[in-house]
Amino acid sequence: MTSTRLTILGGGGFRVPLVYSALLGDHAEGRVTHVTLHDVDRARLDAVVRVLADQAAGIADAPVVTATTDLDEALTGADFVFSAIRVGGLDGRAADERVALAEGVLGQETVGAGGIAYGLRTVPVAVDIARRVRRLAPDAWVINFTNPAGLVTEAMSRHLGDRVIGICDSPVGLGRRVARLLGADPDRAWIDYVGLNHLGWVRGVKIDGRDELPRLLADPALLGSFEEGRLFGADWLRSLGAIPNEYLHYYYFNRETVRAYQEAEQTRGAFLRDQQARFYAELADPAAPALATWDRTRAEREATYMAENREAAGAGERAAEDLESGGYEKVALDLMRAIARDERTTLILNVRNGHTLAALDADAVIEVPCLVDAGGAHPVSVDPLPLHATGLVTAVKAVEREVLDAADSGSRATAVKAFALHPLVDSVTVARRLVDGYTDAHPGLAYLTR
Ligand code: G6P
Ligand code: MN
Repeated sequence: MTSTRLTILGGGGFRVPLVYSALLGDHAEGRVTHVTLHDVDRARLDAVVRVLADQAAGIADAPVVTATTDLDEALTGADFVFSAIRVGGLDGRAADERVALAEGVLGQETVGAGGIAYGLRTVPVAVDIARRVRRLAPDAWVINFTNPAGLVTEAMSRHLGDRVIGICDSPVGLGRRVARLLGADPDRAWIDYVGLNHLGWVRGVKIDGRDELPRLLADPALLGSFEEGRLFGADWLRSLGAIPNEYLHYYYFNRETVRAYQEAEQTRGAFLRDQQARFYAELADPAAPALATWDRTRAEREATYMAENREAAGAGERAAEDLESGGYEKVALDLMRAIARDERTTLILNVRNGHTLAALDADAVIEVPCLVDAGGAHPVSVDPLPLHATGLVTAVKAVEREVLDAADSGSRATAVKAFALHPLVDSVTVARRLVDGYTDAHPGLAYLTR
């Protein structure tokens, strides 16, 4: 039997057990046989190793798990590298949110000012990883979960070309929700989706060759019965003629979400920082039941996902089926299987544009359905986006390019430009204060000196 080696960067991360549980369900030839976890934090690695050991109990062909804090050792010999790191940790995420909200603009993990700060911290680290992969595992495929995923994938693609592929669970989850709503098998529906990561739209849902999206848009009861319908409201979805990714809530209802986030007791990052600290502290006790503790923490985390947005929209509780996991880890596993076994499949992924969207250059990373096989992920051709969506996509891509330039050059003026050009930052003066606030808050931005 051949061995397949998967290296997970951010191996002490809370979502690693999701990926491992997907691997445990794969018994076919070509499956992952060895998992190497890498993390900068030994204690977190140890905690996750314990959860994985509980998961593997009684499973004869469970992938062998090893853990290391040495990055080069982790990369050497890898067939697949999953990058799921969080530069600056959840403390960093909380600061990203707090500094922006104090300026009256959106403070969120990946969108707006918070996402720019996170990108500025993460790009230099991601580029270093990409360079090491080139040297130590030149034939490996890199699957990037690290947020902001589109931007980080583009940064890495400058060194790895199409060997890096970005993934996100949100378009996949949206597609599956919409297909199920229309009474179709999610695996048989064709989801016409395109945009950037966390900035895309479902423009059609083909079931047996017929576009069923108009039927959904015409049915208020159906629209009111699923997450995005309640979040955006039936009228706005009909006006758009499309279903936006849930992250577009930050654009279309910016004022309401900023206010809700400012009024919240804690930001999402601060809540998760405290919750995760409790989790890793509980697992420091060798007698603690690792898997049960992880599972309880996970359920609580999922139940509170985007709670303020739903509250601001009067959208009520999240439906039970939306809480089921199976998104993030399923995309990762499907992608690896398709590449490792040349099992052709279609997945919505973050890849270089090529000629897909005419308004962007070929190297711009976009999020789009791709045909995946042993040769990698190939974007399919899609209809052009309408003008307003093209406007948002090009504006945000311009911001990402300034972030990449600032990370390259260390220029503060370029960092200011990145914030100032973002559609959710309403003044150059605010952009300047954001750069000051973020460089004070984050040691990882000390490189912005020029
Ligand atoms: C979704 C997105 C991820 C994001 C996560 C945040 O899964 O696709 O990109 O990181 O939500 O969830 P959290 O529970 O960390 O707020
Ligand atoms: Mn995502």
